[in-house]
Amino acid sequence: MRLFRDKPTRKRCKLYSMLRAQARRPHKSFHTPGHKQKGFDITELSYSDNLSCPRGCILDAERDVAKILSANRSFLLTDGSTAGVFAILHTAKAQGVRSIAVCENSHKSVFNACAVLGITPLVYEQAYRDKIPFVHTRYALNEDFGNIFAKADAVFLTSPDYYGNVADLQGFSSFCKETGKLLLVDGAHGGHLHFEPSLYAGAYADLWVDGVHKSLPAYTQGAVVSAKSENLAESLRQAVDCFRTTSPSYPIMASVEYAVKYPRNVWLEQAIKTLRDDNERISIGEDWTKVCVRFGDTAFQAHAYCEQKGVYPEFCDGNVVMFYLSPATSRKAFRFLRRFLRKLTDLFPFVQRKEQEREFALPNNATTEQVALRDAENRLCATNCGLFPPCTPLLRVGERITEEKLRLLESADNVYGLLDGKISVFKE
Ligand SMILES: Cc1ncc(COP(=O)(O)O)c(C=O)c1O
Repeated sequence: MRLFRDKPTRKRCKLYSMLRAQARRPHKSFHTPGHKQKGFDITELSYSDNLSCPRGCILDAERDVAKILSANRSFLLTDGSTAGVFAILHTAKAQGVRSIAVCENSHKSVFNACAVLGITPLVYEQAYRDKIPFVHTRYALNEDFGNIFAKADAVFLTSPDYYGNVADLQGFSSFCKETGKLLLVDGAHGGHLHFEPSLYAGAYADLWVDGVHKSLPAYTQGAVVSAKSENLAESLRQAVDCFRTTSPSYPIMASVEYAVKYPRNVWLEQAIKTLRDDNERISIGEDWTKVCVRFGDTAFQAHAYCEQKGVYPEFCDGNVVMFYLSPATSRKAFRFLRRFLRKLTDLFPFVQRKEQEREFALPNNATTEQVALRDAENRLCATNCGLFPPCTPLLRVGERITEEKLRLLESADNVYGLLDGKISVFKE
């Protein structure tokens, strides 16, 4: 398979070796899956171990992965980081956590997991630099949102975020140690950072998820959730067992092990940083895999132009178009991107976006109704909703809906939280 093309890496992979050896043996399938094809997509058979209670090649792979990620235990996931976020919060709840301090710009899985598990999200506002979401440091949080942090039983961070910002992991880790709180990290975009301990969630968090399918060469939905201590590992195992499928995909599992063992691409890491010199509108955070280009009001047009040319960025949020790289991005692809971005920024100038003040209000009553977007201006939003991706709330419950945000929702290709083009609002 093309994904497993790095020979030295795949040689070190327990799951890939097992699947390859078995694929060469006679195999008549009278088991699931129903496609009955010989190959990698098998089910849990006598030789292929079992993800729920691993004793063979899966356990070996998980142990190797845990070692690389500096974890006490790591669990392979074939259901995306979403399952990891649920498992982390379930484990936290089992430790007595009833509330978490969490940034409003967190992925929807965090808010969904809180709702399902009965955890209260104490939400603090996103910081912005050049209109791009930016991370708060521990110190800013102490001043601005000190109350939230003091009140919360645990701190939940997203690091890196979708824009390549790495949180002040060290600062938060000291804060959590001083106050006896758990540090939980959604590293859905940070699996590749294990090479760089100062930027890596696993160097600081008690529980964290690495969404390896996003920034490492793994199949979509491949992720790993990890616990730092033995104490939390058993609780995490039980939590993972609650949320994951009982029919895990072997190609995904094998690709997760392969991705975590994939070598660092030092050349690309250096080369990416030089892109900033081409244009001040190109911004690359500490996480080098996300190249954000600022367009402001021309962002959707620039995004549409990319797709017309057969170039598919990760997302457009109405201000920034983001191009996602990984250690598997080839030198040729990087050179192409450099030329393409020069042209794109020439064609689509930066046009400052008009920003309106945000306003939150408590609804007079909790009755809601669905209204068409065109009728929603000035109403109070009753459900978190936003662009998909990044799947972080553009509008939060209780936020006054502005014309600018409606325009963004209307212009985006995909959104979440809306139903048939209608938005849920409070009756006032
Ligand atoms: C920050 C963040 N966390 C969690 C997730 C969920 O990951 P997955 O799609 O692998 O379930 C995403 C997905 O985009 C994300 O951006």
